[in-house]
Amino acid sequence: MKLLILATLTISSLLFPFTFLNFLFCSLLALSLNFWLIPGGFAWRNHHRSSANLPGPSGWPLLGTLPQMGPLAHRNLAAIAHSFKATRLMSFSLGTTRAIISSHPDTAKQILCGSAFSDRPIKQSARLMMFERAIGFAPNGVYWRNLRRIAANHMFSPRRISDLEGLRREVGVEMTEEMSRNMTIDGVVRLREVLQKHTLKNIIESVFGSDFKTVRKNQLSEMVREGYELIAMFNWEDHFPVSFLDFGGVKRKCHELAGRVSVAVGQIVEERKRDKNEAKNDFLSALLTLPKEDQLNDSDMVAVLWEMIFRGTDTIAILLEWIMGRMILHPEIQAKAREEIDTCVGCNRHVRDSDIPNLPYLQAIVKEVLRLHPPGPLLSWARLAIHDVHVDKVLIPAGTTAMVNMWAISHDPSIWKDPWTFRPERFIEDDMSIMGSDLRLAPFGAGRRACPGRALGLATVHLWLATFLQRFEWVPCSTKPVNLSECLKLSLEMKKALECCVVSR
Ligand code: HEM
Repeated sequence: MKLLILATLTISSLLFPFTFLNFLFCSLLALSLNFWLIPGGFAWRNHHRSSANLPGPSGWPLLGTLPQMGPLAHRNLAAIAHSFKATRLMSFSLGTTRAIISSHPDTAKQILCGSAFSDRPIKQSARLMMFERAIGFAPNGVYWRNLRRIAANHMFSPRRISDLEGLRREVGVEMTEEMSRNMTIDGVVRLREVLQKHTLKNIIESVFGSDFKTVRKNQLSEMVREGYELIAMFNWEDHFPVSFLDFGGVKRKCHELAGRVSVAVGQIVEERKRDKNEAKNDFLSALLTLPKEDQLNDSDMVAVLWEMIFRGTDTIAILLEWIMGRMILHPEIQAKAREEIDTCVGCNRHVRDSDIPNLPYLQAIVKEVLRLHPPGPLLSWARLAIHDVHVDKVLIPAGTTAMVNMWAISHDPSIWKDPWTFRPERFIEDDMSIMGSDLRLAPFGAGRRACPGRALGLATVHLWLATFLQRFEWVPCSTKPVNLSECLKLSLEMKKALECCVVSR
């Protein structure tokens, strides 16, 4: 017995340091879990009491919800909000970034249409590529308001959109000719290539005029493509204070690209300033002839022109690719749209902008595609609270990033009947505006920072869609069926570029 007691005492004295360490470890773990495991995660640690009613995932230590975002963040965030019963409003952390997301029209309206969320959090890559001095990322204030007013008057006004109709029509016809050539030579249309090339031409000529050399177009096209890659890349610096690092050389590449853009666009501006021959009807000329008090300095002008080209290219091409994919998948809907065009326009003349109001089914198709495949499922770029504000009676502190999950709203079965079904008729039975007044479907955002290019974008998409359907029957390629898988970069693209066949009518 004595021996047993002696053995026990010896073992426990030997184990004491381990027991103590174990105790210390468990206490530290409990303390740190208490620190990390708060609703919304670590970035909310100083605010979770004042915003106590806000549910959300605690996420990972330091990383927050970043690992759960995945490549299709809109779907994952919708699923997380659903599991936390937080569709109205959910808090979460992206590294050290404190964020909220709305997946409901009521809270979306409060965020987008109130005055509190009128800034945007700017990504490092966007800042380096000069977008801070352009409309999309300029902080709320006199400069941004001035830019919006100038763009509204000289780029997006109804008069300007109508002035550009000839160019849009010409580009639409050029595309159909290229598609015919593709069919004859290759037996297939690689739609993405055709759309990207011609959308760029369309926006470049709207901004800089038509006498623009092909070499320059190609140069700008290459820069836009590079810019997309860079801005879509994940950058640790956007969520952690690690500005001294440059993972993947993103910063270096952005600097380099910004330099090339400044030289290329700067040269165009200089040449136009020297060319005193004739007044041209394009955005650049409008910027150069602004009244003195509105005039932009050269570097700001470069930033604004660069943004127009950058933004005006991909959204339209991506939306049309989704639309044509849907047209091929639903031949009966395609036939109905064509019948409408045949009745209202016929086959002997080109479609015009003035025909579009007489084509409600065609407009319904565009709305239905924007509902199912919004190019900006999280409304492209988020908003930033400039002061403390209440959303749904919960206090949201200044500096919080706010997102709206438009994809989740437009797929919500409590808002939309059969939300996964492609049925344009729903907008014939019960029409609605998609320009930002009804948050059940606001693919262009809403409020003071809503997309200023929405009318121009829609006019372009409607005209080109009508042209494509008037000219061809669209059928699948026997080897490449339409694949609706998504890929979220800056915009929500089709993962597999659409390849299809067209049959002349
Ligand atoms: C189908 C076409 C388009 C879609 C789906 C789209 C979508 C969007 C969305 C969702 C926003 C954010 C709105 C918000 O925060 O509430 C936005 C902003 C913006 N868009 Fe568009 N857009 C399209 C076409 C265009 C075009 C053609 C241009 C210009 C040529 C353009 C220029 C801009 C600019 C400058 C902003 C920033 C506005 C600001 O922050 O004040 N967009 N767009």
